Amino acid sequence: AARIRLHHLQSAKDQGAKFAMLTAYDTMMASIFDSAGIEVLLVGDSAANTVMGYSSTLPITLDDMVVFAKSVVSGAKRALVVCDLPFGSYEVSPEQAVASAVKLMKEGGVQAVKLEGGEYFVPHVRALVAAGVPVMAHIGFTPQSEHALGGYRVQGRGDAADAMVADAQALEAAGAFAVLMEMVPTETAARVDASLHVPTVGIGAGGATTGQVLVWQDMLGLGAGKGARFVKKYADLRSVVAGAAAAYHDEVLGGVFPGPEHEFGQ
Ligand code: KIV
Ligand code: NA
Repeated sequence: AARIRLHHLQSAKDQGAKFAMLTAYDTMMASIFDSAGIEVLLVGDSAANTVMGYSSTLPITLDDMVVFAKSVVSGAKRALVVCDLPFGSYEVSPEQAVASAVKLMKEGGVQAVKLEGGEYFVPHVRALVAAGVPVMAHIGFTPQSEHALGGYRVQGRGDAADAMVADAQALEAAGAFAVLMEMVPTETAARVDASLHVPTVGIGAGGATTGQVLVWQDMLGLGAGKGARFVKKYADLRSVVAGAAAAYHDEVLGGVFPGPEHEFGQ
């Protein structure tokens, strides 16, 4: 199947259709999701949490992201691959943002980048778009600003909805091809979506957005614990993997594995 491109996502918005996005950090999961028809793969800086075990996304570096990006790109034949600009790799200046995005595209092979932030980042988005870098803007709860925002909190409630619409419109005018909203009341997200020509993507933002995104370990139930309200578990991989590991352990200690069918003769 032909590569998903920006115009396919725009067509979804124009026609009132939807698209699905999942995070991916390695080639095998990327190829499974790609084959399943997921339109957009996000090389999320959530790799800091899900792969590297950090308690926030702040420590992951641009070099780390390049490794994950290459791995995902190698497994994605059809999906559009979008990669996060990690904390510290774009805020300083539009020039820094372009240099970092060029590295992700040139070395990582991704087709677009995502950055967190509102109207303040209009110059950065403009510079990226001028350089030929498609940009998805991420507003609402932005995990890289966890400490400034006072933790994981819903954004855009009440009076804050107007500012969120203004941010989204400024980012669209700067050339962003999509606006992602995280942990935003459904009503605010619907207002933002209605105020934009470009598609929106939601995580914890209700059903009015053009696209939805989830972190794959959450969606497939690999992580321990209950997970956030906005996560739906489509599988329970943690118990599948734990059960298989325990069965292997028992069979090795009990001399059951390997069996004759796994052995080489003389
Ligand atoms: O890094 C990530 O996984 C993300 C999504 C949660 C939107 O940015
Ligand atoms: Na992210």
